[in-house]
Amino acid sequence: MKIAMVGSGYVGLVSGACLADFGHDVVCIDKDPGKIERLQAGVMPIYEPGLAELVAGNVKAGRLSFTTSLAEGIDGAQAIFIAVGTPSRRGDGHADLSFVHAVAREVGEHLKAPAVIVTKSTVPVGTGDEVERILADAGLAFPVSVVSNPEFLREGAAIGDFKRPDRIVIGAEDDFGRQVMQEVYRPLFLNQAPLLFTSRRSSELIKYAANAFLATKITFINEIADLCEKVGGNVQDVARGIGLDNRIGSKFLHAGPGYGGSCFPKDTLALLKTAEDYDAPLRIVEAVAKVNDSRKRAMGRKVIEALGGAEAARGKTVALLGLTFKPNTDDMRDAPAIAIAQTLQDAGVKVTAYDPEGMEMAAPLMPGVTMVGSAAEAVTGADAVALVTEWDAFRALDLDRVKALVKTPVLIDLRNVYRPDEVRAKGFAYTSIGRP
Ligand code: UDX
Repeated sequence: MKIAMVGSGYVGLVSGACLADFGHDVVCIDKDPGKIERLQAGVMPIYEPGLAELVAGNVKAGRLSFTTSLAEGIDGAQAIFIAVGTPSRRGDGHADLSFVHAVAREVGEHLKAPAVIVTKSTVPVGTGDEVERILADAGLAFPVSVVSNPEFLREGAAIGDFKRPDRIVIGAEDDFGRQVMQEVYRPLFLNQAPLLFTSRRSSELIKYAANAFLATKITFINEIADLCEKVGGNVQDVARGIGLDNRIGSKFLHAGPGYGGSCFPKDTLALLKTAEDYDAPLRIVEAVAKVNDSRKRAMGRKVIEALGGAEAARGKTVALLGLTFKPNTDDMRDAPAIAIAQTLQDAGVKVTAYDPEGMEMAAPLMPGVTMVGSAAEAVTGADAVALVTEWDAFRALDLDRVKALVKTPVLIDLRNVYRPDEVRAKGFAYTSIGRP
């Protein structure tokens, strides 16, 4: 089947490359000529494990190509995916749909034969209806079907998530849409991936509800961690104890510095806006967004506490290890490290930092932070080391060496990577999240 993927960002590129790998003939389209040129030369615009190899293999096999021309790219395609960005609109937090609408208009201008238009971008409920209206305005003389097919990819694990999904959700209003989508994902049901057909609006809502629920789960365990610190419990034991109940499940119960990234903060906000518009307030999600927001700065204060309080912290140096919102990505969007560094700097603390992939994106977001080329360099002479993102490289630090390099052995482990007794036995003052 010929498939067009409009938007060659994170979602479009991973989805396009995986669909090509299933044997489809895929054209990835993007307005940015520099990006397309680099992709044609095999250079990825993002860091995602396995992506460069997947793209190269499928380009070589003749199943994957790149173009800036939407008219050319969609020619002959039976399925046209819209995978452009839906950032938070400045000012009001609603999802900005201008890119999605612009693609729909352009598709309407150039489409020459029946096709299914698939929204893969995360879009508020009702966007499919609007895309349908835009296409109807184009006065096409043949049928088109507008379908919602949200993605549930995690950065850093996106290819595995695409190829072995827990489920595929398809919101379609007619048989044409359902049939074409069944063809698109046929290679996956051979792997028994459950395919869930719903109405278009339900499908649009599933994406937001899933992300809001996951954000709630994380925020819940983060607050339980705070309580553990007060009452002398261990959040890891509590998480395990509740997670073994199948109704709860053990995933997404790792307490930490608060969730970040391109999805949870933006999508919870957009969902709240929709809820407000329809006068069906989502009070739990409101609390989650607020609690998570304040948690990031609270983590900065936790580091200051470990330095002995505000007075003692002034003029000292803290080394941040890991800056991205999670490991295996270079994505800095809404990363807790940004607020942590800011809180430290506001208190007169100097900050040095190292991240294996995120330094380039981090530098402009963290003015005044000294970026260095290695963990060893970051900790040298530091009064405290804060582990912010659990990159593998920080999971097995040589603590004797760290101790020899720092000024004072203080470790604040915001991801609970280390065992308190082991680190303390090495002579560190050690603080983690929700553990004695
Ligand atoms: C998420 C969803 O998982 C994915 O399905 C959706 O399509 C996009 O949003 P992603 O943003 O890539 O994916 O990251 P994810 O691995 O879900 O982590 C999100 C944030 O939550 C990170 O900041 C992570 O550190 C944090 N997190 C996650 C925790 O603090 N504790 C956990 O137990 C899990």
